Amino acid sequence: SAAEKDGHDWFMRKEIFEQPRAVADSLLGRRNAAGRLQLDEVRLSDEELRDIDKVIVIACGTSFYAGMVAKYAIEHWCRIPVEVELASEFRYRDPILTRETLVVAISQSGETADTLQAIRHARTQRSKVLAICNSNGSTIPRESDAVIYTHAGPEIGVASTKGFLTQLVACYLLGLYLAQVKGTRYNDEIAQVVDQLEQMPAHIETVLGQADQVYALAREFVGTPSVLFLGRHAGYPVALEGALKLKELAYIHAEGFAAGELKHGPIALVDDGLPIWCVVPPRGRDQLHEKMVSGIQEVRARGARTICLAEEGDTAIEPYADELIRLPKVPVLLQPLVAAVPLQLFACELATLMGHDVDMPRNLAKSVTVE
Ligand code: G6P
Repeated sequence: SAAEKDGHDWFMRKEIFEQPRAVADSLLGRRNAAGRLQLDEVRLSDEELRDIDKVIVIACGTSFYAGMVAKYAIEHWCRIPVEVELASEFRYRDPILTRETLVVAISQSGETADTLQAIRHARTQRSKVLAICNSNGSTIPRESDAVIYTHAGPEIGVASTKGFLTQLVACYLLGLYLAQVKGTRYNDEIAQVVDQLEQMPAHIETVLGQADQVYALAREFVGTPSVLFLGRHAGYPVALEGALKLKELAYIHAEGFAAGELKHGPIALVDDGLPIWCVVPPRGRDQLHEKMVSGIQEVRARGARTICLAEEGDTAIEPYADELIRLPKVPVLLQPLVAAVPLQLFACELATLMGHDVDMPRNLAKSVTVE
C-alpha cells in the first residue's frame, strides 16, 4: 500500500529518499569517547589485523561496485593491496589465500549463494573473513569471523539503493579502522574523514532536492535505445552502478566505462544524440578533473548528449555539459555517496515512465540463493 511506501509509488523510491537517514544510522556509534573508531562486531584482534597483508573483496551485482570503491579507499588509507573479485569467479581460479589475507564479503542480503560459497572456500584456506551485510543473523555474517552491519533497515526494492550507500559507508569505516590499527594514517586525519562522512547525510539530502531535474531528464529519454556512463577513480564504479540500474529497471542497454578507456574502443560507439552520463571528479591537485573534462569534450564533439554530475563551483565543465546536475563539494573518495543518487533516481523514473515494475524487475530476484 501507499502507506507502507511512505506515500511513494515504489519501495525503491522510498528507499532512495531514506538514504540520508540510512547513511546516518550506519555511522552511528562508531567512535568511542576518545574519538577513536570502534567497530563492535569486528572480532579480529588488532594483532590479527596488523598482520593482514592483502585484502580480497568479493561480492555480486551492486555490492561488487561498492567493493571497487573499497579498493580505492583501503589502498589509499592503508597501503595494503586490495583485489576485488566477482564472487562467482573467485573459487574457480585457485586464488592465492593465506592466513594473512582478509577476505571482505559484501552482501546486502547475506544470503547470496555465490558469495557464501566464496567465503567458505576462503575459510578452508584459513583466511580471515569479514562480512559487510545489511541482514542481521543471515548466513554470510554467521559464517564469517567478523561483520560490519550496514544498518540501512530492510530493503524491499530488488535493485539495491540504500543498501549500496551504506555498504560504501561500511567500506570507508573498514579502511579507516585498518589505517588506525596499522598506524598508516594519523588519528587526526582519520577523525577528519569521519567528520566528512558525518556530513554526508546532509549532502545526500541536497542531491535529493534536485530530483525534479533528474525526473525531467528521464522524460526526455523515454525510448532511448542505449545510454553510456563515464567515470574515473571512485567515479568509475559509480558509472558501472548507474548502468546496472538502467539495465535492471528500464531494460535498456547501458554500459559504464572508465573515461580514460574511451579512446581504446568505446568512443567508436558514440553517435549523434547518444546520452552519456559523466561523473566528473572533484577538482584537485591531480589531473583527474582536467582529463575527465577533455574526455567529455571528445564525446560531445562526436555528437553525444552529455549529462554531467559535477561539484558546485566547477565552471570548467559548463561549456561541455548539455545537462548539468550539481553535487556538493566532497573529497573524491567519498563522492560515490552523492554521485550515485541521481543515477538511482534516473533509472527509477525512466522505468516508471516505461510502465515497468520497478520493485520487481523481470527475471531478477532480491537475493539469489542458487549459484
Ligand atoms: C541480486 C540483486 C542485486 C544485488 C545482488 C547481490 O542480483 O538483484 O540488486 O546487488 O543480488 O546481492 P547481495 O544481497 O549479495 O548484496
